Amino acid sequence: MPLEAHKLHRDIAARLRTAGIDTAMLDGRLILCHVTGLSDVDLIAQPQTLVCDEHISQIEDMINRRRAGEPVSRLTGCKEFFGREFRVAPATLDPRPDTEVLVEAALRLPGVLQGKQPVRVLDIGTGTGVVIITLLAEVSSATGVATDVSQDALKVCRSNAVALGVDDRLETVCTSWADGVTGKFDLVVSNPPYIASHEIAGLAAGVRDYDPGLALDGGPDGLDAYRAIFADAAGWLRSEGHVLVEFGKGQHADVVQIAAREGFTLIDDSTGLVHDLAGEIRCAIFRVC
Ligand SMILES: C[S@@+](CC[C@H](N)C(=O)[O-])C[C@H]1O[C@@H](n2cnc3c(N)ncnc32)[C@H](O)[C@@H]1O
Repeated sequence: MPLEAHKLHRDIAARLRTAGIDTAMLDGRLILCHVTGLSDVDLIAQPQTLVCDEHISQIEDMINRRRAGEPVSRLTGCKEFFGREFRVAPATLDPRPDTEVLVEAALRLPGVLQGKQPVRVLDIGTGTGVVIITLLAEVSSATGVATDVSQDALKVCRSNAVALGVDDRLETVCTSWADGVTGKFDLVVSNPPYIASHEIAGLAAGVRDYDPGLALDGGPDGLDAYRAIFADAAGWLRSEGHVLVEFGKGQHADVVQIAAREGFTLIDDSTGLVHDLAGEIRCAIFRVC
């Protein structure tokens, strides 16, 4: 029997809440809007819109999957990042709000991404492309190269670039880190895999069972990617260029040390380390010493 959208929203949220899901109202709205095609505004302006039986049965299936721990983005195939919608797929990491902090830090860099001069950005391990696509969308003079070792992830990145209108300024390269990438860049960004291999089994099920291992596994101590990236980074940078990396909780001192061994220093003791929404040090910005 068809149900009114606002009542259905309440029912979905109640069922998600009883499964211990903190974001029940938000998840319920995302599921409802995805299946019915209603927008957030429709839900507010026309709350009595009737949802048909076929949609209710699709929603039922999604509620069960969500209650079993599947992230909403895996159900809907999309995720909002920096106010834009990105496609996600089994081969890509589910983009995290913490990574928006990396993008904000890049946009604050003086003279680099303020649109005064054309800038070139290299994004290593791009996944869905959220970082570089957002930077290109925010800075119309920027161009860039996005790499990933996963061909399937790069296909998702390219489709997101097309959907968001930056594909003519973005090259995608399937390679390990940035092997074989030529040219110099003003900014090298990366949110690489940084979980220590032995910690993966203990991650929350929504991460361990749905994010691809390739996007998580940072090797025995979680730091393999930083060693590889900083070993070659000087060769990719223009003289005033920056390297901006994201890492996990408690890894900043190790990453700073790895960077220092390869001739990099924080841009500044106070602004070189960037905190995430929970107050953890999440990113660091480096320049050549
Ligand atoms: C933590 S995810 C980050 C994805 C995206 N940049 C983001 O912030 O949402 C790391 C990405 O690095 C890619 N990756 C893993 N090993 C790699 C390698 N050796 N070379 C290039 N990319 C790699 C994975 O496929 C994955 O897309």
